[in-house]
Amino acid sequence: MTIALGVLVSGSGSNLQAIIDRVREGSLDADIRIVITNMPGAQGLERARHAGIPTACVRHADFPVREDFDRELVRLLRAAEVEFVALAGFMRILTTEFLTPFAGRVVNIHPSLLPACPGLNAQRQQAGHGVRLAGCTVHFVDEQMDHGPIIIQAAVPAFAGDDENTLGARILAMEHRIYPQALHWIAQDRVRVRDRQVEVVGAARSMGAMWTNPPLETPFDA
Ligand code: GRF
Repeated sequence: MTIALGVLVSGSGSNLQAIIDRVREGSLDADIRIVITNMPGAQGLERARHAGIPTACVRHADFPVREDFDRELVRLLRAAEVEFVALAGFMRILTTEFLTPFAGRVVNIHPSLLPACPGLNAQRQQAGHGVRLAGCTVHFVDEQMDHGPIIIQAAVPAFAGDDENTLGARILAMEHRIYPQALHWIAQDRVRVRDRQVEVVGAARSMGAMWTNPPLETPFDA
């Protein structure tokens, strides 16, 4: 099933680009029907235009009442016949005015292993805290920020000397891989949500390598 996707961006749009690229190569079964931003200068708009995707700009400053802003987004998404919404660096909190009409059909990507480091500057929070495993999360969106059921997470190592930029680049590279994958699972109708737990039907359950950073050394590695 092809999902009719709307993507909301506020900034550079590199995750949007990753989605566009996967759609183009035929590995993500989605039709990006519209890209909407709240920031007129967002580079993500340029990326969308370059890909021939319809765009819209809804400046939040023009809407003193947050719910009115949300209603305008819903109107545009419905007009574009969007079924599913991907937030890709969209820096506005959505209210029930948005989330009720799209209940269970909004996902977000966040640059940490939630529930660690929600909110702004997650890369800086992780580098500053000195975590050894950082990462990123694709999750369904609910009324609480960076909170809904988790579809996929990727861990990346953090090293001594990392700052928000070096660690952020390592995280971002994984964001570009897991976001299209999660959307493809949704397009394939393989994602089931029960309370907070998400099952990806048919996904492997391999334990993989038990990952520590730094790696365990002999004899602690056995
Ligand atoms: C990403 O780090 C994403 O996780 C966060 O905002 C950033 C957006 O980057 N929500 P881009 O606009 O996709 O390049």
